[in-house]
Amino acid sequence: MKISIIGAGNVGATAAKTIADRNLVNEIALLDVIEGVARGKALDIAQSASIAGFDTVLYGSADYGDTAGSDLVIVTAGMARKPGMSRNDLAHCNAKIVRSAVTEAVRHSPGCVVLMVTNPLDVMAHVALRETGFPRERIIGMAGLLDTSRFKLFIARELGINPREVDALVLGGHGDLMVPCVSLASARGKPLSGLLPAETIDALVKRTRDGGAEIVNLLKTGSAYYAPGESIAEMVEAMVKDHGRPLPCTAYLEGEYGLDGVYCGVPCVLGPAGLSRIVELPLSERDRQALHASADSVKEQYALLLKTMDEES
Ligand code: NAI
Ligand code: 2OP
Repeated sequence: MKISIIGAGNVGATAAKTIADRNLVNEIALLDVIEGVARGKALDIAQSASIAGFDTVLYGSADYGDTAGSDLVIVTAGMARKPGMSRNDLAHCNAKIVRSAVTEAVRHSPGCVVLMVTNPLDVMAHVALRETGFPRERIIGMAGLLDTSRFKLFIARELGINPREVDALVLGGHGDLMVPCVSLASARGKPLSGLLPAETIDALVKRTRDGGAEIVNLLKTGSAYYAPGESIAEMVEAMVKDHGRPLPCTAYLEGEYGLDGVYCGVPCVLGPAGLSRIVELPLSERDRQALHASADSVKEQYALLLKTMDEES
């Protein structure tokens, strides 16, 4: 299997290292407009192979020809947030980058699956779907795993336990209206609502929704990349191993959860061909309404972007 990662910045390079460490694929091409950055980071990661014990071959390039024949193209190219910016503030600028990235990548790898990471994530996935004309199975996005992992950490810290003892799920768009599902959250098999007071749970939900901004405000110069890199690798592993376990991922909904024609975070089973199927869980009425509000906001943001793009062309 060959993977190309478009954008050798913090997230792209961290994902490349994490995927290599898991020894999942034969080849990783790291591409960036700044050739030296792509080549330098690919070489640096490759130089860890004998210590880390992976066989993956890595190289960096600014030439899309070097991405040819990729089974999976991961798009991390684009601007990251600075303090005070929302993910949607990136839409206009990143849409141009994503359009050119997917067009070029798909020209050289017409059979690939695209895994979108660039923000605003759900809107950029829409852009990729429109630009490529691919079926929905081949354009997916990463966000739900990251948001869920944050929710699990905050719950675990509150309870003084290991995050792996927490079961939780964050659905919806990767924005301020994402849906940490309280009704589905539990720790050591006990429902969260029986373990913590409602106001504490509300605070954990809010911290999860603000999880990206919290890191941006601390870093000052960019956004999170270690947990995002790990989340990308987890999705790649699911695709390569075809293990059949659902993961929260961004997928184009066609009626699932009562939503149609919108990218949204939902539990997905992934496989070598991308999205294998969407799992529909029974949601509380409160979570269902929150999911619909989040999806409506993604639709609005995408419509706004399309309007701006049409006015410019
Ligand atoms: P970064 O600034 O470290 O890296 C971005 C890279 O993209 C740079 O190396 C830049 O040279 C490159 N680039 C820009 N235009 C390009 C083009 N036309 N073709 C190829 N490469 C190009 O940013 P970072 O931290 O890696 O974040 C990347 C994106 O991922 C941002 O939009 C960020 O908001 C998003 N993100 C999304 C997450 C999610 O959960 N979906 C999580 C973390 C970040
Ligand atoms: C995050 O949530 C930047 O969207 C990214 O950290």
